Amino acid sequence: MTETQKTAKLSLNGQDYELPIFSPTAGPDVLDIRKLYAQAGVFTYDPGFTSTASCDSTITFIDGGKGELLHRGYPIDQLASQSHYLEVCYLLLYGELPTATQLEDFEARVTRHTMVHEQMHNFFRGFRRDAHPMATLVGVVGAMSAFYHDSTDIADPWQREVASIRLIAKLPTIAAMAYKYSIGQPFVYPKNDLDYAANFLHMCFSVPAEDYNVNPILSRAMDRIFTLHADHEQNASTSTVRLASSSGANPFACIAAGIACLWGPAHGGANQACLEMLKEIGSVDRIPEFIARAKDKDDPFRLMGFGHRVYKNTDPRATVLKQSADEVLELLGVEDNPLLQVAKELEQTALNDPYFKEKKLFPNVDFYSGIILEAMGFPTSMFTPIFALSRTVGWISQWKEMIADPQNKIGRPRQLYLGQTARNYVDIENR
Ligand code: CMC
Repeated sequence: MTETQKTAKLSLNGQDYELPIFSPTAGPDVLDIRKLYAQAGVFTYDPGFTSTASCDSTITFIDGGKGELLHRGYPIDQLASQSHYLEVCYLLLYGELPTATQLEDFEARVTRHTMVHEQMHNFFRGFRRDAHPMATLVGVVGAMSAFYHDSTDIADPWQREVASIRLIAKLPTIAAMAYKYSIGQPFVYPKNDLDYAANFLHMCFSVPAEDYNVNPILSRAMDRIFTLHADHEQNASTSTVRLASSSGANPFACIAAGIACLWGPAHGGANQACLEMLKEIGSVDRIPEFIARAKDKDDPFRLMGFGHRVYKNTDPRATVLKQSADEVLELLGVEDNPLLQVAKELEQTALNDPYFKEKKLFPNVDFYSGIILEAMGFPTSMFTPIFALSRTVGWISQWKEMIADPQNKIGRPRQLYLGQTARNYVDIENR
């Protein structure tokens, strides 16, 4: 972050205040208002953080206008087509692409941590049989701090590293266990001769009586979904992880907070909501009715899987996944599936509709990921857990960056208070 010579001037109650301006390596300049309250006695007001940078970061950059997403400077389409998830994890965590030796060492470390503590199996059994896998995931990841005490001291860089590797390695195992538990099947142990994505498919779809032979095209598509969801700068769940961590909370508690935030339908829960919406639409002839509802100001209904806070041109992740969806559907021979027909027709209708064009609403990553996951055989309830396991590396990278930052202080937003001013308590008989 470089402080420029430029300053902004704020005139308030007859007095001028100079606000320093920082120039980023990419993106808009940033006004530094940190001393504003001390000097001018006013707060700024920005619900939803539409104009507020909450931190500085070197990990991910998004240009919403151009539809650009960079991790440590590398464009997401190059990473999705030429790299793979664990290499991208390394890049996000350590800042550079690994050498062959570094990658081998990293993959070995992650692979050796894929099993969970055996006692965790009992912990799972405490959940209701029909619990949503996200509910189980929030609880079990939070409980990791009870199982792995030796990696909860955030002041110790070695413990931070071990916690990071444990989270990346165990999230697929925990997500798969949450799924198996929800359908009444036995847990499947990880198989460390499989790669990260293939191992996840194995843990989800194998049963003791029958192995699941992982098709390389499907595991490649799974890996691509993980890669495309790996990080997305200061979105709601990442900001939640940062805010939770600003108090000094342990990494497992912080990631559990991120998972809880991700669950909402405006964020990671949109992939499940999108598929459920497609099922509700049911047939192509009902699309106009749902488009009309999405445009109706008096109807809260929105087209799930459409629109984005930052991308106002195209979601580059969606562009890659659209191609992947075509490959997977062809492989599985399900191009004629009625749900997929609805999805394709809805996409075209919305893209050509003036309302969606004018408001710059187009399919986002959740629209296509849901279609692929459905075709692979995942129930909709697993869509958001898959997003959560993919995003874990992003949350951890942002968490590590924040802890290493000497400017790190507890997050404490202010407010515009519109409630009652001080008044005297009234006894119950006089109210
Ligand atoms: N369907 C119909 N209208 C919409 C939609 C939609 N999906 N999204 C936004 N709009 C309209 C909205 O009604 C508003 O209209 P007006 O200006 O007339 O009031 C305008 O577009 C701007 O919407 P906004 O809510 O102010 O925009 P936002 O930046 O706060 O919201 C969003 C972004 C993603 C929450 C929103 O587009 C949405 O709810 N989309 C559906 C949920 C979804 O797919 N979420 C996944 C996001 S991508 C994955 C991730 O990163 O988590």
